[in-house]
Order: sequence, then structure tokens, then C-alpha cells
Amino acid sequence: MTKSIEKLATTYVILGGAWGDCGKGKVTAFYGQIANLVIRATGGANAGHTVFVNGKKFGLHLIPSGIMYKAMCLIGQGVALDLGILLDEIETLKNEIPDILERLRISGTTTLLLPYHKTLDAANESLRSHKIGTTKRGIGPAYADKADRIALQVNDLFRPFEEIKALIVQALEKHKPLLQLYGDPNMSNIETYAEELVKELIEQAKIIKPLIVDGHSFVRKYVNDSNKIIVVEGAQSVRLSIETGDYPNCTSSDSNINGTLSGAHLNPKDPTEIIVVLKAYLSRVGNGPFPTEIESHIGPDGKLIPYKEEDAYLGDKMRNDFHEYGVSTGRPRRVGWFDAIVAKNSVQVSGADAICINCMDLIGEFGITHGEIKIAKSYLYQGEEIDYLPRNTEQTHEIPQPIYDVIDGGWKITPDMDSYEKLPEKAKLFIEKIEEITGTPVKYIGIGPENEQIIVRS
Ligand code: IMO
Ligand code: MG
Repeated sequence: MTKSIEKLATTYVILGGAWGDCGKGKVTAFYGQIANLVIRATGGANAGHTVFVNGKKFGLHLIPSGIMYKAMCLIGQGVALDLGILLDEIETLKNEIPDILERLRISGTTTLLLPYHKTLDAANESLRSHKIGTTKRGIGPAYADKADRIALQVNDLFRPFEEIKALIVQALEKHKPLLQLYGDPNMSNIETYAEELVKELIEQAKIIKPLIVDGHSFVRKYVNDSNKIIVVEGAQSVRLSIETGDYPNCTSSDSNINGTLSGAHLNPKDPTEIIVVLKAYLSRVGNGPFPTEIESHIGPDGKLIPYKEEDAYLGDKMRNDFHEYGVSTGRPRRVGWFDAIVAKNSVQVSGADAICINCMDLIGEFGITHGEIKIAKSYLYQGEEIDYLPRNTEQTHEIPQPIYDVIDGGWKITPDMDSYEKLPEKAKLFIEKIEEITGTPVKYIGIGPENEQIIVRS
């Protein structure tokens, strides 16, 4: 990518491909160790990013995972920030990371996600005839208020009491009908409820005050220094983006490249490398089209239908073998074969320079046990073979039928396989098929759960 000024910082932007939960944290960890700044750009506590600190496992929802290294970490303006969850995360991590408050910063223009957004999320979901299966973290209503310009930003916390109260009352008045039906009874008296909420927010604001920065000038200092390395830790994925995802089965922020860059206070010329991360199989939590889904005991409500071990479908086996349960909600995930058309779409809509394929160890062993590994290379849709992802499946009620390339058996990845050349031939064939169909190099290959278990090809 051409840059407006020569010799800017090196900036890696890490995006989820497909429907998220793809191990973005693994690439973030790879560069996070050498990064000067790690930025969370979009989404909120709907994200669940697993990190290991001193051998202990943590599921982070808001704090950038760069916090476990030496990097400064910024919550950027594209995030919907739930202060309660943020403060809990700081509390949980402060023993392991004593300098957490010195290294965490929050952009003043970040949107606040307030308790009533969570009530509204649950209310909206129960009113919908077509359920999305949101994480119920208040994401949709917080971004809706942002678009409606009745949201509060972090900077608003430092206005006088009455001004903050007036902003909250304005939002509550708008949401009154739903809150009265679905909210807790305290919400019925808007004046007193708003006053209590402002008092709580002012207390929380005292704790985060030293962390607040002007996002733009803070990030620019790093961008304009060629010695710096910046990592943008994307949340969700390009197919969950409200712009490029499977509307309405998507999240409410633009978790593709454009929203991620503006959410991180970056411009389109800043990235050095855009990386799309995928697993060697796919998963999806919540509703929406998933052409390569393998049948399993997940009901239309997203819950597991009880079944006996001997009646498990292949999809149940895959979910259990691969521990595909949500970090944020514990929900069982739908699972399926790798879909090179979804991968190609993810690369094309994001302008990715490189792909990361994670879980090559898991899919290899699954192939050994079950006899084959599949990759969707095209679809049969509306009576035709097509090589793109149709965007009208909501209207046609037809899920594209994948046409697969099949690899016989599987492979085992052993600890000595520390370069691409040493990988089993069938694993290389799998990677080459992805490169051929997406037209993009698979530069990063995840070969195990530990952060170090990643092959990086030059
Ligand atoms: P990370 O960053 C996977 C999905 C939800 C639902 C839809 C809308 O961990 O990969 P929302 O609560 O955002 O309104 O829900 O988006 N979803 C995710 N799926 N990984 C995520 O984040 C997700 N964040 C939201 O399941 O289908
Ligand atoms: Mg996740």
C-alpha cells in the first residue's frame, strides 16, 4: 500500500474472516510482543479474546490483548464501551499485570454502552420475528444511539452532573415504551433512575480519568514514528460487519477494514499489512447462512438439543473435539468445513495482503479420525454453479450448496514441524488450495494452541 509520507510506523491490521472466533489473538500475540501500541477498534464486550498471562487463561472482552506484553493499549473510538465490564477486567488482571493502568488508554470519543442498552438488546431480540442470536451485550442499541446522536461519549463523563443527566434523560425518554415493558421497575421513574446512573458513572469516571486521551493525536504520535510498531486488534469479522456481513445476521459496527481503521483513529493509507484470520474449519454462533455447516444437535434457538453420545452427528463430534463454545456467552457454536468462497470474499472485501489459517493441527487429526477433510471451492445456487457468495439468501431462503474438494485422510503435526517445508504434504495441499482460490498468500499458519505455535512464511 502506498503511503502519503515515507517511513511511517509499521502497522498490522488483524481482521477476522468468516464469522469470527478464528484465533485473531494468535496473530495479535505474534506481533503484540514487539508492538509499541495495540488498538481495539470496534465492537464491545460481544468479543471474546482468549489470552494467557503467566500461564493462566483469561477471556478479554474489551482490553486489547497487547496488555499482556509491554505495549501501550488503546480502546479506540469505534468501540462501544461498557465501563462496568472494563473495570471488572482491570480488577481481574491487575495482580498479573501491575502496570495495567500505566499502559491502558481510552479515546475520549469512544461511545459509552450503558446498562439500558443491554435491556434494550434483550427486548429487541425477544420482539424480533427473525432472531439474530445477539450476545445480549447491548451492542445494537448502543450503536443505534450513536447513529441517532443520543449516545454519550467518554468525554461526556466530565460534564457537570446536570448536563450528563440531561443527556441520559433524553435517551431514556426515547426508549421509554420498551424500557417500561422490559426494563427493571426502577427504570420507570426516568428522573431518579438517571440520577442514580449519573452518580455511578461519575464514580467510574474518577477511576478512568487518567487513562483518557485524544485518540487522534495519541495514535498519530506512534504512526509518525518509523521506529514504532502498531497492531490493530480487530473484533468480530468482515462477515459480521454491518456493511459487508450477512445483514441482518451481523453485528452493529463495521468490523471490516473501514470501520476498523476509523475506529482505531487510522486512515486507509496507514496499514502496512492487512491480515485476515480464519480457522482450517469454520464456526458460527448465532443465526445466518453457513453453507458448509455440518449437521449437529443445535436447535434454531442456538441451544443444544440433548442427545445420546452414540447419536452424535459429525458436527457434534467436531464441536466437542475442537471445544467450540463461545468465550463471551458459552453458547455452542455451529461448525463446518472450510469454505474457500467465504475466505475469498473476506479477502476481497477487506483488501487483505495476507491470510492466517489457524487450527491446522485440529483439522488434520479430525481427518485422520473421520477419513477426509473438505474445502468448499464453489456453490450450486439457484440451479447454477457460482464462485461468489450470494447476498440475497435471506430473500430466496436458499442456502448455497457447497461443491467440495476432498482430501483423503488427514495429517499429524509434530513439534519438529517449525517451517512450512516441514509440514505434511496433505497440509501443504490444503494451504495451496486456499491460496489458489483466494489469490492471496497464506503467510501465517497456526499449528497448535500455544501462542508460539505459528509458522510465519516470508
Ligand atoms: P469475536 O471478536 C463470533 C455475533 C453474535 C450474533 C451477531 C450479533 O470474539 O470473534 P451482537 O451481540 O454483536 O449484536 O450479535 O454477531 N457475534 C460474534 N460471533 N465472534 C464474535 O466476536 C462475535 N461478536 C458478535 O453471535 O450472531
Ligand atoms: Mg471470540
